Amino acid sequence: MKHTAQPLLEKYQLGDLQLKNKIVMSSLTRGRATNAELIPTPLMAEYYAQRASAGLILSEGTWVNSKSIGFINVPGIYTEQQVEGWKLVTKAVHDNGGLIFSQLGHIGSASHPDFFNGELPAGPSAINPQTRSFTPEGFKDSLTPRELTIAEIKQTIQDYKHAAKNAKQAGFDGVEVHAIVGMLIPQFLSPATNQRTDEYGGNIENRSRIVFEILDAIIEVWGSTRVSIKFTPVALSNVGIMTPDEETIPTFKYILKRLSEYNLAYLHIVGPSEDLSGTPVADLQDNYFSHFRQNYSGRLMANLGFTQESGNAILEEGTADLVSFGAPFIANPDLAERFAYNIPLSESIQETIYTGGESGYADYPKAELV
Ligand SMILES: Cc1cc2nc3c(=O)[nH]c(=O)nc-3n(C[C@H](O)[C@H](O)[C@H](O)COP(=O)(O)O)c2cc1C
Repeated sequence: MKHTAQPLLEKYQLGDLQLKNKIVMSSLTRGRATNAELIPTPLMAEYYAQRASAGLILSEGTWVNSKSIGFINVPGIYTEQQVEGWKLVTKAVHDNGGLIFSQLGHIGSASHPDFFNGELPAGPSAINPQTRSFTPEGFKDSLTPRELTIAEIKQTIQDYKHAAKNAKQAGFDGVEVHAIVGMLIPQFLSPATNQRTDEYGGNIENRSRIVFEILDAIIEVWGSTRVSIKFTPVALSNVGIMTPDEETIPTFKYILKRLSEYNLAYLHIVGPSEDLSGTPVADLQDNYFSHFRQNYSGRLMANLGFTQESGNAILEEGTADLVSFGAPFIANPDLAERFAYNIPLSESIQETIYTGGESGYADYPKAELV
């Protein structure tokens, strides 16, 4: 029997967009842009359309320029051909009554020369982030990158703006800046990977500068209420040397205070995946999302490990406005209906998460509704 009286299934006014529920599909890199030009395909349009009953879909992370690449078969949004491919996706989602934001990303130093004809990737400083890149030949360790010049940083910001314009042209409803650990922006935020001595390094204000410069550039295209940003403030695993440190909490306090003035669509915060005790961010262990709620006055989207029950609970207690789900959307295209009818969730097949073409992608069935 349908059970709609749950907070996750309530409508939500997101600026001038009305979301049909508070269930957001979080970005999922699936490596299905299997062509040299990294153009979204009709199969991707079918996959996203299947998930249009989410209140909002966030696209997989997409590259803002040819230097931002660092993972195989991930689509870009910097060429006209890529824009044409994305048009198929946005149309398919809209035709099915959904809304979709484009997630704009740059992997910075966590890439590999295999993507650049043997040339080194660039990051804030010439420091190996000690992560891994999924290259056409499999996973490879990151190397010591080249340091971005100031002119290259300014160009990168313009490339985000260009990608934001392309997202608009492609028919997206807004954009989310991809700033989870591993990507370029957190490489600037972390003193471990950013040891610059100019205005983009050193103190918190300087290390955070790029966040605001990118957002300001994108907001010129979209207006603030269609722009958002996603952070993983306390990621501990698979983040190389970019683990949380004593600067993490004050850095995010500073960023959130400034972002509170921005009137963004929302701030997307990923929760801890591990126990924070004994780490420099241990103070967030018992009050994680309420800490961000207190330090940010705009709309807050919570993520990581949510279930129907915990998603409803965080909305009910008022600690978040929206809840995003990542992994559950892989095998449950109809996640919203499954919550509405209390239908058990299907498990995804691990082998086909990032590879496999059609298999394990757009072939997960919707549940039978009784
Ligand atoms: C296969 C896979 C691919 C992902 N790709 C992205 C991505 O492109 N951009 C991003 O911000 N997060 C990405 N994530 C993280 C998810 O969006 C989400 O933050 C994370 O899975 C935690 O939410 P969950 O517990 O509901 O899965 C990915 C996660 C998975 C499992």
